[in-house]
Amino acid sequence: MKQLIDFFKDKTVNNVLDVGTGTGNFLEILQETFQAAQITGVDPNPESLQEAEKLFPEISFQKMVAEKLEFTDNSFDAASISMALHHLPDVQKGLQEMRRVVKPGGWIIVNELFSNNLNPAQEVHKLYHHFGSNIDRILGVNHNSSFKKEVILQAVQESGFAIQFHFEHKKEVNLVADKTELESRIEKMKLNLEKIKGYPEYEQLKLQVEIFKEQALIHGFQPATKVVVIGKN
Ligand SMILES: C[S@@+](CC[C@H](N)C(=O)[O-])C[C@H]1O[C@@H](n2cnc3c(N)ncnc32)[C@H](O)[C@@H]1O
Repeated sequence: MKQLIDFFKDKTVNNVLDVGTGTGNFLEILQETFQAAQITGVDPNPESLQEAEKLFPEISFQKMVAEKLEFTDNSFDAASISMALHHLPDVQKGLQEMRRVVKPGGWIIVNELFSNNLNPAQEVHKLYHHFGSNIDRILGVNHNSSFKKEVILQAVQESGFAIQFHFEHKKEVNLVADKTELESRIEKMKLNLEKIKGYPEYEQLKLQVEIFKEQALIHGFQPATKVVVIGKN
């Protein structure tokens, strides 16, 4: 990610913590930005961590939540959280924990999709994402809908990091240009829907699958724009 590489090219970062690392989607970007740094990934999901370990044997992984980072104060030069802020039960607690483990003068990097100023194809992505987060919440799994860009910037500011730079990025693709891909997304939604069979929300969410199909055929399906926020401790 060019803007990230350019921002950090004259800064010394020896170790980085990736919070909510999942299967490690953001780790390649961190490796390319901080080529000499030691990277640690944490996530509460052990299956995702197992997957990440296979893909990144050189990186160390630990099971933990953002809200309770098991590291001493001032342990890292930088901490990142990618596509996971809206999964946190307590966003401020998570960000403040990241601030605690980052050294004074160190950095936070937040990469997060947002819900406003989207084109029609991205609104279809939002519908798809919110369908999944809705089902998670009904099942008692914390998963917020996506936040507005301003809310993400404000959350970083409120946690005490001083925002130095932020930029947007998006992919100009239609993920369902191929009809079989659209069918496979719909199948996934239907499988997910079955998890809440018998719940009062079932019929309303069933309707969402039809709306998704209709809208995706008209507008396409493009991932929502993301914002990268860099803050200084
Ligand atoms: C959409 S994935 C993002 C994975 C990866 N960072 C990426 O950029 O694609 C969200 C991740 O947040 C994790 N997560 C959920 N609750 C969390 C918490 N309280 N603290 C840290 N991570 C959490 C999930 O286990 C999941 O791996």
